[in-house]
Amino acid sequence: MEQQGKVHPITRDIEGTPQESMFDIKTQTLPPLESDDVIVKCLYISIDPSQISRMKHKSSSHTSAAATSKIMPGMLRENCGYGKDDIVYGLLNWAEYTIVKNGNTLRKLDPMEDFHYLTISEFLVNSISTPIRYSVGTSGLTAYGGFFKVCKPKKGEKVFVSAAAGSVGNLVGQYAKLFGCYVVGCAGTKQKVELLKEKLGFDDAFNYKEKTDLNLTLQSYFPNGIDIYFDNVGGEMLEAVVANMNPFGRVAACGAISQYTNSRKQATPNMIDIIYKRIRIQGFLSLDFYTNDFKDFMQMTIDYVRKGKLCVLEDVSHGIENIPAAFVGLFHGHNVGKKVVQIAQE
Ligand SMILES: NC(=O)c1ccc[n+]([C@@H]2O[C@H](COP(=O)([O-])OP(=O)(O)OC[C@H]3O[C@@H](n4cnc5c(N)ncnc54)[C@H](OP(=O)(O)O)[C@@H]3O)[C@@H](O)[C@H]2O)c1
Repeated sequence: MEQQGKVHPITRDIEGTPQESMFDIKTQTLPPLESDDVIVKCLYISIDPSQISRMKHKSSSHTSAAATSKIMPGMLRENCGYGKDDIVYGLLNWAEYTIVKNGNTLRKLDPMEDFHYLTISEFLVNSISTPIRYSVGTSGLTAYGGFFKVCKPKKGEKVFVSAAAGSVGNLVGQYAKLFGCYVVGCAGTKQKVELLKEKLGFDDAFNYKEKTDLNLTLQSYFPNGIDIYFDNVGGEMLEAVVANMNPFGRVAACGAISQYTNSRKQATPNMIDIIYKRIRIQGFLSLDFYTNDFKDFMQMTIDYVRKGKLCVLEDVSHGIENIPAAFVGLFHGHNVGKKVVQIAQE
């Protein structure tokens, strides 16, 4: 039987800020399966700023890590390593169905291993509705690795986080507070600033869009200087932070979202400051921590979540039609916490 499904193919290279009008939606008929192909039905799609880099070149793929996806019943080849109703995640298209060659870019989710005793049905229906592995998982590993392994914090140190109400930033701030640091975050709306201070336990927060002089702003929030900066945005904020850092300060260079849509926003921090204050700026990728740190990260995170000490912030849209809006919204600060789009119920 022919399988049809909706898909958002990429139709042009994106330069500057993405617009919803740049994305089409089409109905596709899936081609006949070849030997060892696996057909995956998408349940959730993760929406991430870095996906824009895959849309900037003609040769790039238009894939997105799907939070959970389901192997289509009755459409499996034998011995492909997956069974009917297995829940998997991997790099898939922005589509209801994706054919994955050999299934080798997929990973089967194991409720025991991946969710620490949350069952599949539990994670699909309970308050931690999308898999904790994804909502807290990849962003959490980024936050955990960048903060604990790259910045090597000491209790009482002063930490600044940009895009602090976003997927990675909110977790950095929460980890840092739970660890015993003084934490200030910035975000782009009054509501986000209130959320950081009132719900997530940040010591202070400000709306960077209301500030005309970032240098003076940071001086007022950190009269004794910044020890750690978790950088999600790059640009002029990084320059202002370096000017306000203490000797031996550390910068975790996680992302540079201000540059993704405007290449002229490249930060040029004062190198004399970096040299004399012995500031360390280190880039990293979440996968750097996957082998050695994932287990400790998950144990600590699940423990905090279960004890109600760590808040899981998800921002869920529904329907494949809403993927472009969700994606474009990241670059306008429309999301609060981890952005995902639910494509199907089961
Ligand atoms: N190194 C890694 O392995 C890794 C892994 C995951 C993510 N990242 C990076 O980490 C950063 C955060 O990712 P995320 O998934 O947590 O995204 P996110 O924070 O959930 O969403 C992006 C947020 O960035 C803010 N923003 C958008 N445009 C901005 C601009 N021009 N200047 C300042 N802020 C802007 C918006 O919030 P406001 O309301 O505050 O403006 C928006 O909500 C991104 O740069 C991403 O590429 C890196």
